[in-house]
Amino acid sequence: MNERDSEQVAQMLVARGHVLTSQEEEADVVLLNTCSVRDLAEQKALGKMGMLGSLSRQRPIVFGFLGCMAQSRGESLLRSAPHLNLVVGTQKFHRVADYVDQALAHQAERRQNFGETSMSSVESFSRTDDLRFSIVDIDDEAGSQNSIRDHSLTSTQVTSFVSIMQGCNMHCTFCIVPYTRGAERSRPIPEIVEEVRWLVSRGVKEVTLLGQIVNLYGRHEFPKQEDKSPFVQLLEAVHGIAGVERIRFTSPHPIGFRRDLIEAFKRLPKLVEHIHLPLQSGSNQVLKRMHRTYTSEKYLALVDSIRGRCPEMAITTDIIVGFPGETEEDYLQTRQLVDQVGFDNAFVFKYSTRKNTPAAEMVDQVPEPVKEERNHDLLNVVNSWAKRRGEAFVGRETEILCEGPSKTNPDRLMGRTRGNKIVVFEGSERHLGQLLPVRINRSTGYTLYGDPAIFS
Ligand code: 5AD
Repeated sequence: MNERDSEQVAQMLVARGHVLTSQEEEADVVLLNTCSVRDLAEQKALGKMGMLGSLSRQRPIVFGFLGCMAQSRGESLLRSAPHLNLVVGTQKFHRVADYVDQALAHQAERRQNFGETSMSSVESFSRTDDLRFSIVDIDDEAGSQNSIRDHSLTSTQVTSFVSIMQGCNMHCTFCIVPYTRGAERSRPIPEIVEEVRWLVSRGVKEVTLLGQIVNLYGRHEFPKQEDKSPFVQLLEAVHGIAGVERIRFTSPHPIGFRRDLIEAFKRLPKLVEHIHLPLQSGSNQVLKRMHRTYTSEKYLALVDSIRGRCPEMAITTDIIVGFPGETEEDYLQTRQLVDQVGFDNAFVFKYSTRKNTPAAEMVDQVPEPVKEERNHDLLNVVNSWAKRRGEAFVGRETEILCEGPSKTNPDRLMGRTRGNKIVVFEGSERHLGQLLPVRINRSTGYTLYGDPAIFS
């Protein structure tokens, strides 16, 4: 989601005549879009902004924090970095280009007043607090979910994210997102369809619909129709667009993952066989205290029901270890459930205390070394299942969408299966952006290796 929001901001800046650079040293404006979901992400962003300060000693630069950490920390961030100019929250991404232009204009004016940019004047300009230009905008804005809709595609890009909603009302007790992203707000189906049509007209073949809890899309705004949730109605509408070849979505909540959605995988062939279905814990005690409102039995029943209708479905998940009060017995229940489901992949997180969330106040916080141990142990279970799931492809032919050069070896190409497994293969230019069958020869767990199959 952050990647998508950053793309929106970048596109708005480019539309105003700014030029993107991949070199920090070259930039006149440096914006860091931030994540608050765990403390590590915040520390990384703060560290990075601190390091960037050395750039401003050479010349005036506009620095900004955007997104979730900007939203939750607001003005206090100005004290964390003396060179910081902009703090723009999650409902104001569409204002960033204006603020950047204001900051640049201010700098240009000050430079004129100082005469030519001598080193010392620039330094005092960017370092002295009362001379610093700053804007903090973390207000709510009605309709802000409709402003994430523009793209800056590369000429060969065939996949794209599409943001369909913002915010979350679920209030899991560990999670900061309801406080940083606000309440659930969904975009109208026709606007999303128009955006996907535009993407397709530029060569995009696969779209990933994004929301904090996608399956709850539209539940406050749009009515059910013929027993179909607004999310399933949206899937049908996107499915109907000529040129869309594949549809993904992330992430759903097990609550509200109903029959109409499970059936959609059977009815809508463009909907690929992958579901990222966050579990969080396999212990009913812990789930209850997390306010996840399902049980491990219900989760398993859902997985069974999905696999019953679609045996090929790849299922991945998120798990938190070391949630407050998690006993060894609770952890072992998670471990057992992970083994029972046999996920294709899982992100395992050590619980991270987030300010002002209910879990932060809970007694029985789990010591760091225990979290560490459970994290390590669970990753072994996850990895061994990922390996088994990968090996099951060896010797088989499967369809991939070729996205471009492999990140680890640019001489090779990479694509993804419908189940979202990465396939690396020796290919040529003509494979770029194509859906093509490949024969899988080898698997290293998370990556499959193959050859393009001969077209019959
Ligand atoms: N600590 C650790 N992991 C967290 N997540 C969300 N909040 C926290 C937290 N406080 C994880 C959840 C969620 C994923 C996006 O991040 O597993 O599904």
